[in-house]
Amino acid sequence: MADSQPQGDIPTYEEMEAALRRAWYPVARSADLAEGPRSATLLDEDLVVFETEDGHPCVTSARCLHRGADLTQGCVRGDAIQCAYHGWRWRGEDGVCVGIPSAGTEGVVGTGKLRIAAYPAHERWGLVWTCLAEDPPDPPAPPPELEELELTYRCGDPIPHDCSFALQMENVRDVAHFPFVHRSTLGGLPHEVSPIPVRREGTEVWATYDIPAQQPPEGEDTANTDIYRAYRLRAHAMAPAFTVIVFEVEGMGSRLIINAPSPVGRYECVVYPVFGFDGAFTEEFLDSQVAIEMAIFLEDRDVLDRLKPKEIPFGGEVVETSTASDRYTGEYRKALLEFYRQG
Ligand code: FES
Ligand SMILES: [Fe+2]
Repeated sequence: MADSQPQGDIPTYEEMEAALRRAWYPVARSADLAEGPRSATLLDEDLVVFETEDGHPCVTSARCLHRGADLTQGCVRGDAIQCAYHGWRWRGEDGVCVGIPSAGTEGVVGTGKLRIAAYPAHERWGLVWTCLAEDPPDPPAPPPELEELELTYRCGDPIPHDCSFALQMENVRDVAHFPFVHRSTLGGLPHEVSPIPVRREGTEVWATYDIPAQQPPEGEDTANTDIYRAYRLRAHAMAPAFTVIVFEVEGMGSRLIINAPSPVGRYECVVYPVFGFDGAFTEEFLDSQVAIEMAIFLEDRDVLDRLKPKEIPFGGEVVETSTASDRYTGEYRKALLEFYRQG
């Protein structure tokens, strides 16, 4: 039995949350903003995400400072969001109140004395990312794995989870669950897991391993999937909440999954799956593979949503037992703890 329980002082949840506010997370799909403002909750803050009339994404508090209406019910007017209740307008870039229809243009309008919280908005891979820090760091540079590849990106539907983002993060490369949770999507994978080489440096974890080809079930149409082929899988997790997994598929090309669970609160997250494919894959393949990957995410959710406790028991609050096949999980936990300790 291996010990996956990190050692040393464990930060309080308040300390963890303060650290989490300094990271960037997805809060919407860019394409959805064309239909109007979207709501999101990040670390218990209710947000509205919208696109200005000239196409810039904005993220602000969702609560109107007049009588507390939900700005997600409002509509975009120029560079501002207009509240659905009495029409007050809040500029997306800085949250300044720029219009109070019942008061004309007098008083506090446009002075900056009246403002809601506004957060930075950054678009990448078809998602809008934000950070809640008062003095936010620049969005992290794309990981080197992505620079090597010319890819087409597709976003899956956001998947809400009833568990902490960290449990979802560690699930993604927990290889021992594949033959059980993903029996119907991935087929009859071997139960025994050979030790996976895992490397950690600070808040980042890498794992590379080869998956042998499998015999597809008789009569299965395998033209638009690669799951029965041999491939090399390279996973790179960056604590707190970003993993990229590159699949180098024998005889086909490279594709990847970006897994970035956005922490809604202490015990909830939303996964915004992103899939990237190089030019070797056909449109039919993309459609089919995205559907399979989404089914895999949903199979995971069924299990993750009922885990107890709903967050990593860093302090040994409950008994857990680990084996060598949990090494990736153990290293991710150490990386996350290091992220929290850096503050
Ligand atoms: S509550 Fe928003 S304008 Fe009144
Ligand atoms: Fe899974």
